[in-house]
Amino acid sequence: MTNPDLAENRNRVAAHLVGREREIELTLAAVAGGRDIVLEGPPGTSKTTILKAITEEWGIPLLFVEGNADLTPAKLVGHHNPARVLREDYSPENFVAGPLTEAMQQGGFLYIEEFNRAPEDTVNTLLTAMADRRITIPRVGTVVAAPTFRVIASMNPYDNVGTTRLSSSVHDRLNRLAVDYQDAEAEHGIVALRTRVTGPLGDRLMDDAVAVTRATRKHPEIRQGSSVRGAIDLVLVAEQLAKMRAVKDPGADAYPPMVYDAMVVALSGRIHLDDAIDATPEQVLREIWEDRFILQPAIAEPG
Ligand SMILES: Nc1ncnc2c1ncn2[C@@H]1O[C@H](COP(=O)(O)OP(=O)(O)OP(=O)(O)O)[C@@H](O)[C@H]1O
Ligand SMILES: [Mg+2]
Repeated sequence: MTNPDLAENRNRVAAHLVGREREIELTLAAVAGGRDIVLEGPPGTSKTTILKAITEEWGIPLLFVEGNADLTPAKLVGHHNPARVLREDYSPENFVAGPLTEAMQQGGFLYIEEFNRAPEDTVNTLLTAMADRRITIPRVGTVVAAPTFRVIASMNPYDNVGTTRLSSSVHDRLNRLAVDYQDAEAEHGIVALRTRVTGPLGDRLMDDAVAVTRATRKHPEIRQGSSVRGAIDLVLVAEQLAKMRAVKDPGADAYPPMVYDAMVVALSGRIHLDDAIDATPEQVLREIWEDRFILQPAIAEPG
């Protein structure tokens, strides 16, 4: 039996994104089933965009928290305003709700980015809230979660500096979905949607931006390449360079060097070289550029 409302909901959420039908359907199945979930994937793989689309369609808030060593349970739950406590003593009225309490009260999604960077006691506070759907706050009382409250966590699988290895008992309490980079066609669609460039120059810029950005993920000296965010920015930067340099069509001699310059701006900070490598990001980008514009110019030709 299909649930037409949920199927309709899935289709409306999908309309916010390019591709990602499977990830949307699976995430939606988890949250519609009343469950919490971890989305595991590298930066820029549409995790936030999916959650924004779902919460927008559900008409509920999405509250962001960044998981790091400073994220104490008190920051998550909230605190009493110290100045008011001095004047009025502790009371529920002078309690300032933290994002967990707020999400529970408002029936929102609490989105914890880089979940594996949060301290253990913070993770435990979250797990308790998830299991009990209520928390007890000293001098405030019990907060019962509204029905649409969910905890969504994200993790970057490449991230291993400053992260805690979550215990198997933590993993056993969570659902998980791995999200990876999309294919070139979808990334082209994303860049088109976010930059809105048009015309022959715009089309060629999008092809080149997506190709060189994807190449950063395969280069042997790069530990982590750029997400589609790099391709989006590359196109926007190149578009402005084209105006200043009067580059009007992709066949112009000034076109390839212009793309290299835009690559430096849009990609050099987004690629992370292997620790053992002496080269600079610019040198590695130069190689990727040469590969596209000198060694394989035929591939770069339109058509
Ligand atoms: N499938 C998609 N459809 C439309 N836009 C997308 C898609 N994937 C990524 N984007 C765009 O790419 C950018 C990065 O996406 P998003 O912020 O959702 O990534 P993320 O997985 O949350 O990254 P991070 O882990 O760094 O927070 C945004 O500008 C977003 O609009
Ligand atoms: Mg995000």
